[in-house]
Amino acid sequence: MNNVEDCIIVDLPQVYRSQGSLTALEGGINIPFDIQRVYYLYDVPNNSTRGGHAHYELQQYVIATSGSFTMMLDDGRNKKEFFLNTPLKALYIKPGIWREMKNFSSGSVCLVLASLLYDEKDYIRSYQDFLTYRSL
Ligand code: TYD
Repeated sequence: MNNVEDCIIVDLPQVYRSQGSLTALEGGINIPFDIQRVYYLYDVPNNSTRGGHAHYELQQYVIATSGSFTMMLDDGRNKKEFFLNTPLKALYIKPGIWREMKNFSSGSVCLVLASLLYDEKDYIRSYQDFLTYRSL
């Protein structure tokens, strides 16, 4: 079972040119899983909280491609907050971790690379069920 210390910030490569920068992410090469799904959050009101769930199997890379937001991770025993504000870093979220996102800056975009297709059966949406799953 993973804990919050297993969820790490990963540096992403940058191809820098005076005309602008580019970052390339390739499943199984500089991302430790095959990417089955990509989605992004945008137009998130500043006072909104997203997330509020865990996943049984899903692995994710979460990137603030624009603007910033705060990601709170919780393994049932410990919590850890990450402030994401650069397209040059990803937060690698392992399976079995509760997450909540807040403090989205105006115009921010949260890009998520996911190891599985969308499947509601992979979600744990009740915090009590999450604690039970974590044997707490
Ligand atoms: P959810 O994962 O709960 O969003 P967040 O964690 O950002 O708050 O998903 C919100 C809604 O979007 C929910 O009705 C399911 C739908 N959804 C999809 O249809 N496909 C997806 O890949 C994702 C992530 C969500």
